[in-house]
Amino acid sequence: MSTPTYWDYLRLPDLLELQGGLDGQPSPDELHFIVVHQSFELWFKLVLSQLRLARDHLAAPRLPEERVPFVVHHLGRVNAILRLCVEQFAVMETLPPQDFLDFRDKLVPSSGFQSFQMRELELVLGLRQDQRIKYAGTDPLAHIRAQSHSPASAKVAGKLEAAMAETTLHTSVMAWLQRTPIMGSNPGDPDDDAMVDAFLSEYLAKTEGHQREGIETLVRALSENDRPAITARVEAGLAATRAFLTPDDREARRARAGLLFIESYRELPLLAWPRLLLDTVCELEEQLLLFRNRHARMVERTIGRRVGTGGSSGVDYLDQTASYRVFPELWAVRSCLLPRERLPGLRGGERYGFAAG
Ligand code: HEM
Repeated sequence: MSTPTYWDYLRLPDLLELQGGLDGQPSPDELHFIVVHQSFELWFKLVLSQLRLARDHLAAPRLPEERVPFVVHHLGRVNAILRLCVEQFAVMETLPPQDFLDFRDKLVPSSGFQSFQMRELELVLGLRQDQRIKYAGTDPLAHIRAQSHSPASAKVAGKLEAAMAETTLHTSVMAWLQRTPIMGSNPGDPDDDAMVDAFLSEYLAKTEGHQREGIETLVRALSENDRPAITARVEAGLAATRAFLTPDDREARRARAGLLFIESYRELPLLAWPRLLLDTVCELEEQLLLFRNRHARMVERTIGRRVGTGGSSGVDYLDQTASYRVFPELWAVRSCLLPRERLPGLRGGERYGFAAG
């Protein structure tokens, strides 16, 4: 076997032949457009592989403590890539609107709407079908399936079918949270349900006290006239907190209690990695929201409010997708948290220390 060269190893001659567009003669601006898109798709490929690795660790029936850092590592890499992708839209923006119009019609009806890797990413994360914004009577997945009249399109549709059958990151994070020891109690312990319920009701009682004191602080700082409006807002917030922390579904209740426990007692040594894991998942969702928003602003700057090459309402549609939340629990818990000195006293604390020896 001959010694490998840089260009053999990276298959560079093949890679650099792939920017010809539809007619093999892209203008310099079109070459720019193609290279930027291809770069994003390469990053998506890596994001997908890292997400699946993180998901596989989390989806195991047991996640030993020493494996949690691997999950954080994979998700941290995803976040670093997504931050870069958000920045990368600045390169796309060097394409002036009129220069894009020179070749835009060639693309119709192809569009980033058909980025099947973005759809895979949403599926692996756990974006549900019923959450998707639909346009023109279709949804992104139905749209991609409807294109499967060539072998390449059928392959794309097959990839999506497979991704739809995968365990999602959301499901595996929630299943992992459900196993959190709460006040020293583990699922399966004889009085675990009672322990979890006692923790939740004590937490809720303290939250109610704290929030109602907050009404007085605000009224003092603003005016007595504001009392009714402030009280209504705080009470609505408390009702939402109660509904979030005590769902009827016991599995969801235990998972949310686990989340609340980790976020509240985050300084305990045993919870240090789990809380980092939750932070990386939260950042992942935040980066995706920033990605969607940054893309929408770049699109608005380049094509204004015209209809997209994929036929959607364009920026209007894209702005609506920026409301997707795959991990609503991770955001909701933030409204429930108490200052440290108000927390229920820790029980079973020895369970969360460093192992001796
Ligand atoms: C001048 C550059 C671009 C313009 C004008 C543009 C415009 C649009 C528009 C209007 C849509 C909505 C669907 C449609 O009707 O076509 C869309 C969707 C999309 N674009 Fe772009 N785009 C550009 C560059 C990019 C780049 C560089 C990426 C990077 C991968 C990208 C990724 C996507 C994705 C993933 C969607 C689907 C969004 C969703 O349905 O959630 N776009 N784009």
